[in-house]
Amino acid sequence: MKILLTGGAGYIGSHTAIELINAGYDVIIGDNFSNSKRDVIGRLEEIIKKEIQVYEIDFTNYEEVDKLFSKEEIDAVIHLAGLKAVGESCSIPLEYYRNNIESTINVLNAMKKYKVNNFVFSSSATVYGVPKAVPLKEDMPTSCTNPYGWTKYMNEQILMDVSNANPNLSIVILRYFNPIGAHESGLIGEDPNGIPNNLMPYITQVATGKLPVLSIFGNDYPTKDGTGVRDYIHVVDLAKGHVRAIEYSFKNRGIDIFNLGTGKGYSVLDIVNAFEEANNVKVPYVIADRRAGDIAECYADSSKAEKVLGWHAENDLRKMCKDAWNWQQHCIKLN
Ligand code: UD1
Repeated sequence: MKILLTGGAGYIGSHTAIELINAGYDVIIGDNFSNSKRDVIGRLEEIIKKEIQVYEIDFTNYEEVDKLFSKEEIDAVIHLAGLKAVGESCSIPLEYYRNNIESTINVLNAMKKYKVNNFVFSSSATVYGVPKAVPLKEDMPTSCTNPYGWTKYMNEQILMDVSNANPNLSIVILRYFNPIGAHESGLIGEDPNGIPNNLMPYITQVATGKLPVLSIFGNDYPTKDGTGVRDYIHVVDLAKGHVRAIEYSFKNRGIDIFNLGTGKGYSVLDIVNAFEEANNVKVPYVIADRRAGDIAECYADSSKAEKVLGWHAENDLRKMCKDAWNWQQHCIKLN
């Protein structure tokens, strides 16, 4: 079975490629390398000890997408390619809408032409907007607070309409919570351009001394210690969720949505403490103002994924912190 992994050189994509190959699938990576480095491929090949087929491709260009589908006999697509920075999406919304929606439409059109029926989409817990209650279940109301989130929301809607129009399709939407950690080898991990927006890459860069201090965005939220609570999930567990989703898509028709989280909420201070303890390093921090658009609490009810996909997250917070730090130390040598 040949799986096209769009955005396969990125943080989640590269880990997903490994798990798919470990599960016996052939993987084709399609990526424009706008937010990933080409040498990720060499490191991936070092981990799996074989060559990976890679296409440098812009998924917003239909001709390029069509060419790929005409050359390769693709059985299924996992679509992760897209822009993903919340702050940036507020400054250049049109780029986000164009990029994230056009690429999905192009892939779906090529799938239609080449009779590919299996599709897994990378969505986000961001589609729950400001949660009215936690833990979040898949059938709870959705809404968004920024253009990045709306692109995920709109893509979900497009997929529902496309599924209604074509009963042969099998579509799985995965709503990710907060992926952190890295592959155990330390060869791949999250490597954001510039100053990180997300908590864990910020912490690891403070721990190395590259950044002076972590700003904790608010300690007056209605949570156990006043700092924001999220559902952090090891990226390898998340990657394994894609393998289960692909297997499920081959056995079912229609459209289904699954949360991929651990079901546990940890505060920012929990993460800082766990990181310091797991790695025996200090993470100096200051309390700063709340970040615009942040919510107090967000964590998953992942029981549907457990029941239907037979998937649950296996790695605990200590392991996530250890692997994130192991990767950061390798990453310094690579950059
Ligand atoms: C963010 C995005 C979300 C996206 C996800 C992808 C926002 C508002 N949301 O989620 O749409 O799907 O990334 O990974 O950007 N924090 C600090 N200091 C920092 C960085 C973060 O205190 O320097 C806190 C935040 O306030 C939050 C927690 O850490 O409470 C997690 O933040 P982050 O890693 O950015 O993820 P989310 O905001 O949950």
